[in-house]
Amino acid sequence: MEALKEIVNPILKWYDSHARVLPWREDPSPYRVWVSEIMLQQTRVEAVKPYFERFIKELPTIRALAEAPEDRLMKLWEGLGYYNRVRNMQKAAIELTEEYGGEMPADFERILKLPGIGSYTAGAIASIAFGIPRPAVDGNVLRVLSRVQKSYEDIMKQSVRKSFEEQVRAVIPKVRAGDFNQSLIELGAIVCVPNGAPKCEECPLKELCRAHADGVELELPKKTPPKKRRVEDRTVLVLLSDNKAALKKRPSKGLLAGLYELPNLEGRYESQEILNYVKELGLSPIRIQSLPEAKHIFSHIEWHMAGYAVKIEEPDKEPEGFFFVEKAQMEDIYSIPAAFGAYTEYFKHRF
Ligand code: ADE
Repeated sequence: MEALKEIVNPILKWYDSHARVLPWREDPSPYRVWVSEIMLQQTRVEAVKPYFERFIKELPTIRALAEAPEDRLMKLWEGLGYYNRVRNMQKAAIELTEEYGGEMPADFERILKLPGIGSYTAGAIASIAFGIPRPAVDGNVLRVLSRVQKSYEDIMKQSVRKSFEEQVRAVIPKVRAGDFNQSLIELGAIVCVPNGAPKCEECPLKELCRAHADGVELELPKKTPPKKRRVEDRTVLVLLSDNKAALKKRPSKGLLAGLYELPNLEGRYESQEILNYVKELGLSPIRIQSLPEAKHIFSHIEWHMAGYAVKIEEPDKEPEGFFFVEKAQMEDIYSIPAAFGAYTEYFKHRF
């Protein structure tokens, strides 16, 4: 579309005076851009800031990331979710350490081949850190471009995303490629926002925006709704003995792979059934209390959880796969996913 060329100067000019000051923008090294972009795929800017600072402080280089112990890495990511993203980052860091001495190569195609890096992230790193004129089209950018061009194409379709990328590639300025990508992202994040509240009066593109001209900005972008999630009932147990609580390590594959969890069972159980289960484990329950229900939403599954706190006598022997830890260890060492948050909260207070 002809008009896209016309957005370049006004949006860059707007970016110069409106861009937020963000930690990864102050020093856009390839590693910092990479870490920030992966974090920002799942979490809002304000929430990312402290995670970003902590991560970079503890693992300041690609080499340090490559060498980080798994539990430490999971702990640094705790609360961000989608743990496979940080596992993939570590795999990529290992490749970069082995092949490039721990540096990111200034090569879009090579960056794109790294584990966990798709065309958006590769474009963001290439353009922001190296000035390579490649597009970085995320959800923010798709929204801005759908509105500016009044496009009713379904942005969930890969072919539509590709076509938007090609259109950006055709106009991306060679001298300020990173700023141009970030200006589109920034406009989508703070002006051309979703959920019925775009601030068109503040928009540097309002005279060029076809959706605004026709008053249809709220209808766009078009998205097919995601598939319905599968609902799974679970019963979560807080097993407390004296000053310790039981944890398990999850299998190395699948949902929440390799993280730690509170013992839990698929399905819903009455307190008598739970007491029987605890005895079958070889433990001696003293009392049981039911806890409030909780829900956790993953991308494809929803857990609907019931919970019980069970006070037990100090075990002579830990049941297979279970181990008991003290509060300080829980907080400092073991990464327990947010899915269990309603119950770990409880057990923090009871220690
Ligand atoms: N969201 C995704 N990437 C971003 C960036 N570089 N700056 C601000 N918000 C973003």
